[in-house]
Amino acid sequence: MYVGKKITVSVIKADVGGWPGHHKVHPALMERAKELLSMAKEKGTLIDFYVTYCGDDLQLIMTHTKGVDSEEIHGLAWDTFKEATEVAKELGLYGAGQDLLKDAFSGNIRGMGPGIAEMEITLRKSEPIVTFHMDKTEPGAFNLPIFRMFGDPFNTAGLVIDPHMHMGFRFEVWDIKEHKKVILNSPEELYDILALIGAKSRYVIKHVFPKEGHRISKDEPVAVISTEKLYEIAGEYVGKDDPVAIVRAQSGLPALGEVLEPFAFPHLVSGWMRGSHNGPIIPVPLKYATPSRFDGPPRVVALGWQINRDGKLIGPVDLFDDVAFDDARRKALEIADYMRRHGPFEPHRLPMEEMEYTTLPGILKRLADRFEQL
Ligand code: F6R
Ligand code: MG
Ligand code: MG
Repeated sequence: MYVGKKITVSVIKADVGGWPGHHKVHPALMERAKELLSMAKEKGTLIDFYVTYCGDDLQLIMTHTKGVDSEEIHGLAWDTFKEATEVAKELGLYGAGQDLLKDAFSGNIRGMGPGIAEMEITLRKSEPIVTFHMDKTEPGAFNLPIFRMFGDPFNTAGLVIDPHMHMGFRFEVWDIKEHKKVILNSPEELYDILALIGAKSRYVIKHVFPKEGHRISKDEPVAVISTEKLYEIAGEYVGKDDPVAIVRAQSGLPALGEVLEPFAFPHLVSGWMRGSHNGPIIPVPLKYATPSRFDGPPRVVALGWQINRDGKLIGPVDLFDDVAFDDARRKALEIADYMRRHGPFEPHRLPMEEMEYTTLPGILKRLADRFEQL
């Protein structure tokens, strides 16, 4: 009954306590979240929902008709994280309430700590989507794979072969330092896009839109990524952003396999150990979304869904639970070893500018009067 009508998919996540340390979410937190979201579903606030985890991040996946930035939905997510925090406190979990950086909810959860990816879409007759969940990394970690899905013909054969995709897509890129955004056309402005998003700590892809003439209206997103940077909100290092994304697939969009293909290459991302190290991102099934070694290496989970005509989430399918990603995992572990051998040296450790919000400036300050002019 929602086919051809607007429906919103919201993925909102927060680290409200780890078990043990920053390892994973305790099942009791997920249970509490399920209770609260069930009540919201009974009340009609939500159409459907699913609660899961990636590492120490509690993940709420929801469908509803309230649009993006809805006070009701954001308030529900905030209350759910607050309640889960109470459970985390009772269990003595680590960093209870860590990502809830503000005391009181004031209408919108943005800028309060949790990460948000939401899109309002006109539901297609068949609507396959993938939600991606990362742990121990930052929003820019999505730049490379999202670019490859929607912009790289060596990844996405559809850009060459499918007449509905041949015109390319539009990328909305945010400058998260200057708080500005720009929309760039692919393939016409391919090199400009790459010039920006290659600098992934500053320029991040927020949305991908179709172009004029696509079956989907040019103003309706086909991909959205959470871009919240915790240190920008808190002014200091309080944990990693651990981004999420939603990607629509098929019928003039990248096929499911084209959406997943970029993760066969375990690219280097930042955020490993104390948010201060580069390392490979491993595509894993949920059962391995449990960063352990050196608090990592960073993980990515892909959950596949069909949204049915009633707006129900039919899934999840744990998409990286496939031997086809074994080689990527093996390669990632090899790269992890190689990177670890650098210890405190760059490029394993992040460059100075990106360490700005860690304790490193404190060390420099302490040594300031021992430095002599050359
Ligand atoms: C947390 C993370 C971890 C922590 C590290 C130190 O998401 O990435 O690597 O930064 O475990 O944590 P604290 O300072 O809480 O002991
Ligand atoms: Mg944590
Ligand atoms: Mg985390």
